[in-house]
Amino acid sequence: MCGIVGVTADPDQIPTVTPMLIQGLKRLEYRGYDSAGFAIIECGSTELKIFKDKGKIDEVVSKYGVSKFCAVSGIAHTRWATHGEPNRDNAHPHTDCKQKIAVVHNGIIKNFAELREWLESNGHVFKSETDTEVVAHLLEHFVSKGLSMLDSLRRALSMIEGAYALAIVYREEPSRIYFARNVSPLLIGVGLGFNMVSSDIPSMLQYTRKVIVLEDGEYGYIEPYKVYIEKEGRLVDWRRRVVTIMWSLEDAEKGGYPHYMLKEIMEQPRALYETYTGLRSSAEISDAAELIASSDKIFITGAGTSFHAALVFAYYLARFAKRAVMPFIASEYITYSGLAERDSVLIVVSQSGETIDSLQALRAFKRNGSKIIAVSNVIGSTIPRESNIAVYTRAGPEIGVAATKTFLTQVLALTALALRTANLEGSLNDSEYAEYFDRLANASKVAAQAIQSASKTIERLAVKLKESKSMYILGRGLGVPLAYEGALKIKEVSYIHAEAYPAGESKHGPIALIEPGFPVIFLGTPPVGELHEKIQGNVMEMKARGAATILLAVKGYEGVKGVDVLINVGEADEILAPYALMPPLQLLAYRLATALGRDPDKPRNLAKTVTVE
Ligand code: AGP
Repeated sequence: MCGIVGVTADPDQIPTVTPMLIQGLKRLEYRGYDSAGFAIIECGSTELKIFKDKGKIDEVVSKYGVSKFCAVSGIAHTRWATHGEPNRDNAHPHTDCKQKIAVVHNGIIKNFAELREWLESNGHVFKSETDTEVVAHLLEHFVSKGLSMLDSLRRALSMIEGAYALAIVYREEPSRIYFARNVSPLLIGVGLGFNMVSSDIPSMLQYTRKVIVLEDGEYGYIEPYKVYIEKEGRLVDWRRRVVTIMWSLEDAEKGGYPHYMLKEIMEQPRALYETYTGLRSSAEISDAAELIASSDKIFITGAGTSFHAALVFAYYLARFAKRAVMPFIASEYITYSGLAERDSVLIVVSQSGETIDSLQALRAFKRNGSKIIAVSNVIGSTIPRESNIAVYTRAGPEIGVAATKTFLTQVLALTALALRTANLEGSLNDSEYAEYFDRLANASKVAAQAIQSASKTIERLAVKLKESKSMYILGRGLGVPLAYEGALKIKEVSYIHAEAYPAGESKHGPIALIEPGFPVIFLGTPPVGELHEKIQGNVMEMKARGAATILLAVKGYEGVKGVDVLINVGEADEILAPYALMPPLQLLAYRLATALGRDPDKPRNLAKTVTVE
């Protein structure tokens, strides 16, 4: 749950790498931000300087004047605590006893307690409570026995159990950065006169577009003009693995909006267009649908927002393919993996492709013989790599901690998958399938219209609702997973308690909380003919108890009585309704957060990618 960067450069080409380290690290802040740190080898000397503390990157940089230091190489870290509270001692980098070796780490070293005990019994003195520090002392241990740093790294890795992306600087080899990857993501950026390592692509884009995605078990080092990778003691030929990343730097920046979250909500029309176009021109959907149609049992999983997208898939698969799917929350995989067998398929939805709960579910199902389909936004991430088939959304990098554009692009990909499965199952004939699939081309337009028509009303609504302590979001059918996602967004960024229920379920308990002024947001989804009357009934039940009723609905719900605020998001059928309803809900969450003075890009206690169970 941390981000790491390392850069080494030829001083004749790049006089100092410090700005690259700072900028590169800032683009990883979404991975965690309770403390930050840098280890640099100073220009003109081989001195290893460490700057680290609790706080966000900018705070640490300005507190220690980091930008004033000239460096030939360095490593940096942004932390989200897993072992030890956020404070200066526990902030990375961690060093050996003699301050010659500095290490930054993302992941968890499972056997660190035994390793620490062993190292302490050999005279090593620890300065932090972290699992990471054992790496620095292990390396020191082997170097002191006369091994080269590369050999020491090989030996240390053979003793470490767990997940890690590591970057290491060693005072005696100032232009080298050692690295290793297992489970936690790590990439190499190949530059001109420099090379870098990083946890994610956005931190590289300003400097290079040439990237190598490291695989589990790979380790080695970079120098300004050299990349050296090994796996299991054998040299890895990496040259054919260099990919060119087409994302623009602007894609990874705020694009003029005050927050990434707002930018990412607003760019949904483009993300949807690109995802639709990408899926139409590739075989991913058909390959995955064939696997689903030929499977006896279908499971789908994900965490948080990705789980809500999974629920949308379950809805469409029931409606169009007449097939049952069992959705489960990824962290509950232990219960469900026992149902997996050779003829089952598990669809794993994860925008990052790195969420540990989802990865564990994948691995447990795989062990039991199940086939796996990944739906992810990050090419080369672990979940798609470990799956039989990968379906990619094309949302571009999402920096805001709250998932927005990745949700709707997941919904689009999963809808396409459900439709194609329905076609293969025979419940949609070829021309019906083609007609439904083509409708997805309008997702982009529907989202743009909803954003345009609802923005102002949502802003006013947020001002009214910002003092609320709690609220309900109720829907039926497709409205249920969208309500779950809306409630999650509101909770995450505004810290207002929001709870979602199927509207019909509200009278089985939740209605007890209703008192005058309690806000209840209803979602009006298609098919309007079947749901209008039922939603009307639920609105009246709430109104009778004094609730403040808000109806966010597609065209057709205009006549519902007892509604205090009606937000019409325009015309949208069953296939297109998510793109009309979700952006206004996301905007409501965003406006509530900013009206309350919260930072929606960095909600407290949350990290973008959760790589601990
Ligand atoms: C969504 O706003 C959250 N940040 C979180 O629930 C997220 O969806 C979840 O952690 C899953 O992430 P993934 O899609 O990268 O697997």
